[in-house]
Amino acid sequence: MEARITGVGSYTPERRVTNDELAQTLDTSDEWIRSHTGIRARHIAAPNEAASDLGAIASARALEASGVGPGEIDLILLATSTPDYQGLPSTASVVQDRLGCENAGAMDLVAACTGFVYGLETAHAYTRAGLARHVLVVGAEVYSRIVDWSDRSTCILFGDGAGACVVSAAEGEGRGIVDSVLKSRGSDAESLYRPRGGTRSPLPAGERADRDTYLKMDGRRVYVFAVSVLVDIIRRLLERNNLSIDEVDYIVPHQANMRIIEAAAKRADIPLEKFYTNLQEYANTSAASIPIALDEMNRAELLHPGSTVLTIGFGAGLAYGGNLIRW
Ligand code: COA
Repeated sequence: MEARITGVGSYTPERRVTNDELAQTLDTSDEWIRSHTGIRARHIAAPNEAASDLGAIASARALEASGVGPGEIDLILLATSTPDYQGLPSTASVVQDRLGCENAGAMDLVAACTGFVYGLETAHAYTRAGLARHVLVVGAEVYSRIVDWSDRSTCILFGDGAGACVVSAAEGEGRGIVDSVLKSRGSDAESLYRPRGGTRSPLPAGERADRDTYLKMDGRRVYVFAVSVLVDIIRRLLERNNLSIDEVDYIVPHQANMRIIEAAAKRADIPLEKFYTNLQEYANTSAASIPIALDEMNRAELLHPGSTVLTIGFGAGLAYGGNLIRW
């Protein structure tokens, strides 16, 4: 039994915020942001849009593309670090209701920017084991609500968006999720985290949210980690599957920073053109970045049945990993 991607969809909010617009209220510039990250713009959710709103639209598009009805979905896996509610209920349950997936189990998956990679592998496991016929895997994020808009070293990096795939059990054409590597380096957890607001350091009633309730990052440390694991996961997936890089059509890395991708390409001696990027337009949408890219590539007809794709995620956790997909 294969775990084949039968439909993909995405949604990014209408409001597009350029670097120049950010520079009106922040001590930064289009030149700095472009030269240090490659980012030109990001899309920001409207005040009434939460993660489930973005996720539901992306999911409806993926369902439509797959031809699978909402009632046929057995499981919804929604990867997010910016859920509608703090911990309960899951954002997956909100999406399950919105889409009318009355026969589906629903759960959130927290692996930050690697969430979608983890989600695809979990869907792979369920379908391969015969426990589900159709799994909806969603990445939906509203980082604009958890970044400190006065911290120029982090807020410029992120954007909002959602992407989704339907993973369906199918018989033997050699297509689908072939292999995955999932990893975590929890010892570095505090290099990218929200120090306050969880059970480790709760925010007592009456106390105002301070900067420690927002995302905090050791940018240099995360940069070094990201470059090394991007190279490591590509090598592992190639080696384990006896593939040469020439047999891979596209690498779809998590869309964090162009400089990370360029450094990894150089270190692994892989032409930069193999890496699909759209962070220029959307910035880092965390768990949504890979499925948004896959949807864009699919619509641009860059992906064909049998295309070989590596998706590579990395981020808070520090979690990282990748999937080898035969499209
Ligand atoms: N605009 C203008 N100047 C900025 C700035 C901004 N948006 N952000 C930082 N700077 C300044 C700093 O204040 C610093 O100034 P100083 O030298 O006067 O102190 C200078 O630029 C250099 O800062 P530094 O942090 O060393 O820059 P950098 O070259 O390491 O780039 C990142 C910073 C964040 C772009 C880089 O570290 C990075 O990409 N890290 C990985 C982040 C990431 O992708 N995280 C998510 C992973 S899922």
